[in-house]
Amino acid sequence: MSERKRYEPVAKTTERMNTFIIKTFGCQMNKDDTERIAGVMTASGYSSASETDEADIIIFNTCCVRKTADDRAYGQIAALKQEKEARGALKIAVGGCLAQKDAEDIINEFPHVDVVFGTHNVAHLPSLLLEAERTKKPVCEILDGTVEFAAELPAKRLHDWHAWLPITVGCDNFCSYCIVPHVRGREKSRTPERLLADARSLVEEGVREITLLGQNVNSYGRDLFGQPAFADLLRRLADIPGLERIRFTTSHPKDLTRETVEIMAARENLCPHLHLPLQAGSDRILGKMRRRYTAAHYLSLIRLARENIPDVAITTDIMVGFPGETKADFERTLAVVEEARFDQAYTFIYSPRPGTAAEKYADPVERAEKQRWFARLVESQNSISLAHHQELVGRDFAVFVEGRSKKGAHRLAARTGSNKLIHFNGPDSLIGQELPVRVTEAFSWFLIGETI
Ligand code: 5AD
Ligand code: SF4
Repeated sequence: MSERKRYEPVAKTTERMNTFIIKTFGCQMNKDDTERIAGVMTASGYSSASETDEADIIIFNTCCVRKTADDRAYGQIAALKQEKEARGALKIAVGGCLAQKDAEDIINEFPHVDVVFGTHNVAHLPSLLLEAERTKKPVCEILDGTVEFAAELPAKRLHDWHAWLPITVGCDNFCSYCIVPHVRGREKSRTPERLLADARSLVEEGVREITLLGQNVNSYGRDLFGQPAFADLLRRLADIPGLERIRFTTSHPKDLTRETVEIMAARENLCPHLHLPLQAGSDRILGKMRRRYTAAHYLSLIRLARENIPDVAITTDIMVGFPGETKADFERTLAVVEEARFDQAYTFIYSPRPGTAAEKYADPVERAEKQRWFARLVESQNSISLAHHQELVGRDFAVFVEGRSKKGAHRLAARTGSNKLIHFNGPDSLIGQELPVRVTEAFSWFLIGETI
C-alpha cells in the first residue's frame, strides 16, 4: 500500500475573508464533495457561517444532470449580483459539475463570480480564493482527469455518526443521455486497503453508518483487478467491528451480481436497500440508452433480491420522453413499474445534455405529451409506494435518528435500514441514536411513527 500523502493546507493569509457557506446541488457524490470543500476550507483557517449574509465567501457546488439543475444554480448565482455590488469584499466561488461543463460561460456571463473550480480541483480552492483576492480578477481552474481523489481530502462532516465513502469516481458507461462521464471523467477505483483503512478510522472517530458512493458501485475494482470486486469489498467492510450500517449507491443492473445479493442477505450491517435505476421498460429504448440490459433481466434481478434479502427495499430512477420513445414504449415502462412494485421511484422527464450521444437523436414527441406520460407514471408509482408503506403500519423498526424533521408537528426524522424515512416525536437528544419506532401512518414518500 502506498503511503497516504498528507494534505497540506494553504493557510489563510488575509483578514478580508474569514467565513464561508456552501450551497449544494445534485447527488450524494456532491454532498461528499461539499464535506471535503468544508474540510479544506476549515483546514485553511476559515470557519463556516450559517447564513449567506454572514459569509465572506459563498461557494456553489453545482450539478448539471438535467437542464433544471443548470437553471437552478444559474438563478441563484445571478441573484447574488446586487449583494456583490453592495459588499465589495464578498467572494463567490462556483464548483462542481456545472462549473466543469460551463467554466468559460460562467466567467464571461457572471463577472461577479471570483473563482470557478472543476470537479477535480477541490484541493486548490483555498489557493484560488487567495489568488482572486490578490489579483482582483476572476480565477478559473478546471482539470480534465482525476489527479487525486477528493476523498483523500479532510472532510468536515455534517453528522458525526455518518460518513460518505466514495469507492470510485467517474463513470465508464456512457449511457447515451448522461452527462456524468463528461464532467466526472473516467471511472477510477480507490484501493480496498485505502477504503478499509478509511472505514476503520471513521469508526474510531464515532461514525456508525457509512454510505459507499460510486456512479456504478457494482463495477468497483474493474480498473484495479480486471474484474469487479464489489461483493468482496462489502464482505471486508462488513467485518469491521463497530460499523453498524453500510449503505451504497448507485447500482447498475448490468453489473449487479448474485454474489452481491448473497452477501447483502448474509450480513446484518449491510442495509437491505438497493437503488437500481431502471430508466425505461422498453428494450428498444434501453438499447438506445445504451443500458446493456433488458427489462426481463432487470425483473429477474429484483426477484433475486426479494427472494434472498429479507425486507429489502428496491428504489429506482425512471426517465420518460427519451428521444424516439413512443406511446407503446412508455406503456412498457408502466407495465414494468406495475410488475416491479418499487418501494420508491425518482422520476424525470428526459433533458438533452450537451456533448451526449442522445442530444443528436430526433425527438419528435411534444413536451405536453411527455408531461402526460410523466403524470401517469407518477400516479401509478405513488399508489404502489403507498401500498408498500401501508403494509408497514403497526410494525416496529430499529431506526437511526438523523435530525430534526421538516414535516409539520413531528420533531424528528429517522431512517430504517431499508432507507424509509419515518417522522416521529421525541427530544433532540435522540439525534444520532438508534432506537425502535412503531409505524403508525403511511404516505407515499414517508412514514409517521412513535417511539415504543
Ligand atoms: N435527462 C433526464 N434525466 C436524466 N438522468 C440522467 N441524465 C438525465 C437526462 N439527460 C436521471 C437518470 C439518473 C438520475 C440520476 O438522473 O434517471 O439515474
Ligand atoms: Fe449532478 Fe451527476 Fe454531477 Fe451528481 S455527478 S452532481 S447527479 S451531474
